[in-house]
Amino acid sequence: MNLNIALLAGDGIGPEIIDQAVKVSNAIAEKFGHDINWTPALTGAAAIDAVGDPYPDETHAICEAADAVLFGAIGLPRFDNDPSAKVRPEQGLLRMRKKLGLYANVRPTFTFPSLIDKSPLKQERIEGTDLVFLRELTGGIYFGERGRLNNGNTAFDTCTYHREEIIRLAKKGFELAMTRSKRLCCVDKANVLESSRLWRETVQAMEKDYPEVEVSYELVDAVAMRLVQWPNSYDVLITENLFGDILTDEASVISGSMGLMPSASVGNDNALYEPIHGSYPQATGLNLANPLATVLSAAMLFEMSFSLHEEGALIRKVVEQSLADGFVTEDLTNGGEAQKTSAVGDYLVDLIKKA
Ligand code: IPM
Ligand code: MG
Repeated sequence: MNLNIALLAGDGIGPEIIDQAVKVSNAIAEKFGHDINWTPALTGAAAIDAVGDPYPDETHAICEAADAVLFGAIGLPRFDNDPSAKVRPEQGLLRMRKKLGLYANVRPTFTFPSLIDKSPLKQERIEGTDLVFLRELTGGIYFGERGRLNNGNTAFDTCTYHREEIIRLAKKGFELAMTRSKRLCCVDKANVLESSRLWRETVQAMEKDYPEVEVSYELVDAVAMRLVQWPNSYDVLITENLFGDILTDEASVISGSMGLMPSASVGNDNALYEPIHGSYPQATGLNLANPLATVLSAAMLFEMSFSLHEEGALIRKVVEQSLADGFVTEDLTNGGEAQKTSAVGDYLVDLIKKA
C-alpha cells in the first residue's frame, strides 16, 4: 500500500519524538511491503518564527492532500509568558483542527502490566482499565464568541453547540462502543448548562438506533471523581470540548506516564495522530523524552486511517516488549538505567526486524 503522510514535528521535543515514530513506521512499512511518503511541514512556534503564522496555508494544503497527518507537539513558554503575544502556537493547533474538520478526538487510556506500579493510583483500582474518551474538538467554548466589555474589565467566552455537532460526535461514540463492551457514558453538566441539556437530549434520542449499547449520563464533576476511584468501570465516554480537555489529562496519568498515551483526531475527510502530552520545552534537544506516545499514535494511524491492523498490533507489541524489558526513558525507570529517546526508537526498530 502507498501511504502519504504529512509530518508535523512542531516545537520542543516534537522533532525528537517524531523521528522515532518515523523510524518505527518505516520499519513496519519495510516488513509489510508498504511505501510511506512523508511530507514535512511547519507548524507551531517553528512556523511563527519562519513565516509568522503557526498554521501556514502551505501546511494546510499538505495536510489536506495527505492520507493522514502525524503530529509531534506544539507550544513554547516564550509565548505562554507573554500575554501580549499576537500570535500563539496554540492558535495554529485550533485553526488546524477547525480547517481540517477534525471534530472527534479519540483519547484512549489503558494500562501496561509492566508499569502498573508507576501509576499514582492503587493497583487494584486501575487493573484492567481500558477506556476511550471521544472529545468533541471543533466546537464549544473553544470556538464560541469571546471578548471584553466595560473597558476590558469584564471578559466572556461562550459555549455553543448545534445538534448536528453533537450527533456526529455521539455517532462515533456509539459505533466505537459497539466494537468494545457496548457501554457509553455521556459526560455533561446538564444540571446547570443549557448546552449540556442539548447534549443529553440529543444522545437520548439516538439510543433507539443502538439498542445494544447501554448508555449512562453522568455529570462532569462526578466523572472527574470516579475516574480516579474506579477508572476500570468506564468503557467509551463522549463529551464536549473543554470537559474533554480536562478529563483526558486526568485520565492520561492513570497508566503511569503521560508519555505513553496516543490520540487521534478525526473528521469526515482528514485524520491527525499525536501524543497526548505537550512539547516539554525544558527537554528540547536533550534526547531524553519518552517517544512511546508518538509511536503508539503511529499505530493508531496504521489502524484507523488504513485499516492495517496487523501493522498496528506489531507496533503495540514491540512497545509492550520494550517496557517489559525495562528499555525505557527516564520517566519510566525504576532506579534502573535511563535510555535515550533515539535508543528507544532503535530498540523498537530492532524488535520489529526480528519479529
Ligand atoms: C490538548 C491541548 C490543547 C487543547 C491546547 C494546547 C490548545 O491541551 O490538545 O488537549 O486545549 O485542546
Ligand atoms: Mg489538553
